[in-house]
This record gives sequence, C-alpha cells and structure tokens, in this order.
Amino acid sequence: MPAYSASAPGKIILFGEHAVVYGRPAIAVPVMQVRAKAIANADPRSASGVVKLKAPDIGLETTLSDLPEGHPLAAVIWKAAAAMNLSHIPASSIQISSNIPIAGGMGSSAAISVSILRAFSALLGRPLNDEQVSQLAYEVEVIHHGTPSGIDNTVITYARPVYFIKGKPIETLRVKRPFTLVIGDTGVQSPTSTVVNDVRHSWEMAHGQIEGLFDRIGEVAMSARQAIEEGSIDALGPLMDKNHTLLVELGVSSAELDKLVKAALSAGALGAKLSGAGRGGNMIALATPENSETITSALKEAGAVNTIVTEVRAT
Ligand code: MEV
Repeated sequence: MPAYSASAPGKIILFGEHAVVYGRPAIAVPVMQVRAKAIANADPRSASGVVKLKAPDIGLETTLSDLPEGHPLAAVIWKAAAAMNLSHIPASSIQISSNIPIAGGMGSSAAISVSILRAFSALLGRPLNDEQVSQLAYEVEVIHHGTPSGIDNTVITYARPVYFIKGKPIETLRVKRPFTLVIGDTGVQSPTSTVVNDVRHSWEMAHGQIEGLFDRIGEVAMSARQAIEEGSIDALGPLMDKNHTLLVELGVSSAELDKLVKAALSAGALGAKLSGAGRGGNMIALATPENSETITSALKEAGAVNTIVTEVRAT
C-alpha cells in the first residue's frame, strides 16, 4: 500500500489577536515557508488497531494506545476515526515532522493536526473535506489552548488569507496588492494557553477597560481589511503600530518583542507588531521589497533567533 503524505503551512496573525477570542474580527495569513508534514502508512506487520506514532523532532516514538487519552496527538487520531465512522482502526504508522517553531504563535499545533487528519484519512480511503478537517483541528486546539477562537485551524486548513470572526463562516480576504513581511522570532517559547488565560483573568478583573481595548483592536482589524482590499499598503504600517500599542496595553508584549519591534521600525519598516499570543514567539514587520534585507539584519542584531521574509500575494 502506498504512503499518504499531507502538509500544512504555518500562519501569522496580521491583526486582531486576543480580541478575536472575544468576538472581534482578526486577519491571518498562511506562511508557506514553514510547514508541518505527516506521512501515513499501512503497517501489515502490526496487529489491527495498532497505530505507531513517530515525531523525531520532539523525540516522540509511541503507539496510540500508550498515549494518555487527553493527549492532543491521540485526540487527532480518535477524532478522525470517529468522523470516518471507523469501527476499527487498521494497523498503521504515522510519521510527523514540522519546522514551525513550537509555542511561537505560528500555529504549529493546528498545522500538525491538519496534516495528520489529511494523511490518515487519505490512507484509509475516506479523505476528510476542508470543513471537517478545520472543525476537527479546532476541537484539538480546544485541548491545547482551552478557548481558541478558531482562527489558527481556519487559516491553516484553507491556506489563504482570512478575515475571521469567531463562530461565523470563513471569509477569505481579497488582497489587491502584494506586500512583504519580515517575521522575527524572539526564541522565547510562550504557550498560547498561558497568555490567553492571563488575558481572561484581566478581562474578569477589569471588564470595561479590557472590552474597550478589544473594541479598539477590532476597529484596527476592520480598517486593515479595507486597506488590504483596496491595496492601500501604506495605510497598513500605522495600523500595525496601533495594534501593537493596544497589545502592549493588554499586557501581552515582552521586552524581547518590544526590542524587535523597535529595531524593525528603526531599520525602515512601515509598521511592526507582535503576532500571535505574545509574551514571546514572533513579531512581524511590514517591509518594502527593497528594505526587507536591512530589516532582517536589524532583527538579527537585536536578538532574533530566526527570521523569515514572506510575501502576502495578491489574490
Ligand atoms: C493565537 O494564534 C491567537 C490568539 O488570538 C488565540 C486564539 O485566537 O485562539 C491569541
């Protein structure tokens, strides 16, 4: 039997992180330079029901039955099996790899789920459609993060720019003119669940104030949508700066993120902000095709452990 492989991109949030968990709009784009990949094989040497899982990047080599029930990787397989109405799982092996930074705000967990769901369901001859893949990946994100908005599984499943409102049908975003982003990684791992929980705590303690911040972040995302759809790239930079300031006020930035944002702006970026949950992970800077290298060097000098230049293409 042939091997079935599937891959899924990373993502970055351009506008609206955190506020999106509370119903405000957000914008995210896929990042094709980093990917998670799953290869599923039938394993005729094993007994029926045995699923071997290998993820050499994280030193994991186990079987499905040896994983605790609530483990996200086990949950992906069980959920896939339920969605395919399988009465038993045939003996198989799944190899997982990813170069998406873990706990870096680039959607590594959702990309791993999406690639496993696709490879495993294809192996069993019942490929899940995008809607099923996104929904199941969302359910696994709940295990990872508690209260995800659903933006990560959506942008990663559909692999195109999205304008996202929690609980609403997916809206793709028309990108009139392409633009260039430089992504800078602080190297600080920051689990999304911790930061999202801290924001929830602030929201409970100072409801009115935090709701006000979410409203302003939502307005920035709405203006950004218009700018992207009209091709007014110059308007995007100041909107990114404004979004970053609001995220600082929300308490989700860090000294490392602020340092990279400042370095990017000093090197000529049109705007810069943290991206994802914050406290660590990645930031993004809006570059011109001419100054992306200068910004990359400035980010490295300011401590970025990794940088990626990515173009958001016209759609
Ligand atoms: C994580 O990529 C973005 C957050 O807004 C959480 C979420 O939307 O689930 C921080």
